[in-house]
Amino acid sequence: MNLVEKTEKIFALTTPLYYVNGLPHIGSAYTTMAADAIARFQRLLGNQVLLVTGTDEHGQKIQRTAQTKNLEPQVFCDQVSAEFSSLWKLLNIQYDRFIRTTDSRHEVIVKDFFKRVWDNGDIYLGEQKGWYCVSCEEFKEERDLLEGKRCPIHTNKEVEWRDEQNYFFKLSKYQEKLEHLYQHHPDFIQPESRRNEVLNFVKQGLQDFSISRVNMDWGFEVPVDPKHTLYVWFDALLGYATALLDPDEEAGLEKALQKWWPIKLHLLGKDILRFHAVYWPAMLMSAGLNLPHKVFAHGYLTKDGQKMGKTLGNTVDPITLVERYGSDAIRYYFLKEIEFGKDGDFNEVRFINVLNADLANDLGNLLNRTSNMVKKYCGGNLPPITAEDIPVENLLKAIGLDLGSQVKVAYQDLAFDRGCEAVLALVRACNKFIDEHAPWSLYKQGQQDAVEKILYAVLESVRLSAYLLSPIIPDTSNKIYQQLGFQVNFNDQTQTAITTPFAVHSQWGVLSNKQKLGKPQPVFKRIEIPKND
Ligand code: MSP
Repeated sequence: MNLVEKTEKIFALTTPLYYVNGLPHIGSAYTTMAADAIARFQRLLGNQVLLVTGTDEHGQKIQRTAQTKNLEPQVFCDQVSAEFSSLWKLLNIQYDRFIRTTDSRHEVIVKDFFKRVWDNGDIYLGEQKGWYCVSCEEFKEERDLLEGKRCPIHTNKEVEWRDEQNYFFKLSKYQEKLEHLYQHHPDFIQPESRRNEVLNFVKQGLQDFSISRVNMDWGFEVPVDPKHTLYVWFDALLGYATALLDPDEEAGLEKALQKWWPIKLHLLGKDILRFHAVYWPAMLMSAGLNLPHKVFAHGYLTKDGQKMGKTLGNTVDPITLVERYGSDAIRYYFLKEIEFGKDGDFNEVRFINVLNADLANDLGNLLNRTSNMVKKYCGGNLPPITAEDIPVENLLKAIGLDLGSQVKVAYQDLAFDRGCEAVLALVRACNKFIDEHAPWSLYKQGQQDAVEKILYAVLESVRLSAYLLSPIIPDTSNKIYQQLGFQVNFNDQTQTAITTPFAVHSQWGVLSNKQKLGKPQPVFKRIEIPKND
């Protein structure tokens, strides 16, 4: 395999490393669910995938929160970090690496990286004066502050005045190089609207930023001056590199970057785009390292129009949601209902209505009614038909022939809503097709051949839909595939790319009467709207 082929087959992607100042909420879960869907889709394509997630555990915000709980920061971090990994399991997230920035190997990577940047002459000691938001762990421009010197993102928090000596990173030196990057790699920042925001920000002229703090010891020492602690963001971004080490591999920056670097995709919320699209590539340029291929910033999940967050305390608890509705329901709602890149509000009634309409009625019922007809009209066996027996004029076949490539592009564009809608259009067409062709009447008229073609076309469409939705609703897709007689487990990532490769299973006509249909069962149970709780 030549180098080009090798790198095309390797796909490392990241979620942000979440702050452990509070329990995970649905906002943090959102990025992770999206990342997992992409990872699953990439695995179906046959790529080697590494999904990186983890927790960001240093800095003032965490230190202060631990203090308020009377806990040692490390003890506090251990507790909250475990909550993240267990939520990811509940949400059926198949992460490959969970990096914690308090991992001892991470310190080695950060120091190796610091040395490269230092040796390149891009770090100097200077004066830092300005308003600092501890919740953002970021200095703010005075003009951006709300009344009462409050942070525009954490609207209930006042910023703090800082006047201290810090080490700075020479971001200004990378102004032209960054502009060149954005111009020559227009896909580097996505979506387009966010890209424009970054371009406008950079156009105003980049300023060096401080990468150390004094009077704060929850973090790594600055290697050249132990009185200083490295700024949490300088430390955290490098978590993406540390995560690439194999589990028992000795730490070292070069080693870490050997197999999976460069990262193909950083997924994050729009609040932290600047760090990923401006600071991070400049830091990498300074260290002489390759840049990630793409940074995608999605929107905020809001509740009553306000960003949901730990600091504001207006979060939706994902554990309650998962326990009530199961992981597929949550994954489906957030990925299908919100255009990835735009903000979206959460409303439980809407959530239930969407799931009932799409998964319980349109998809689940379709399989159920069709399986029942197969039982009645075909003795419970799949009709002995192949895809070639169905003419291309058949509406379902016509839609299905194109659907795989259409949904592939949607996943590649991270347009989950578009992908789901395209699949749902086929599902709805199937229901209409059955109603219009009324196989029960054809059966009575003795038109067995026509009945079999209809049932085959519908079941094949259901199979195709389940396959294409499997990165989003793997459990439901499993139930559908099993009912159609396949021995497949979409949660077994070592197996699916071999048993159900995208190139084959995204095509129309995979179903054959060699499969023995399973017992009809509801693949997605209808949800009742809970009474005022
Ligand atoms: N620790 C930093 C990231 C360092 S990455 C090297 C951080 N952590 S965070 O926990 O505050 O938030 C991380 C991410 O969580 C956001 O960028 C976003 O991906 C997700 N979200 C947090 N709140 C969210 C919403 N209300 N809505 C959507 N996503 C949200 O920043």
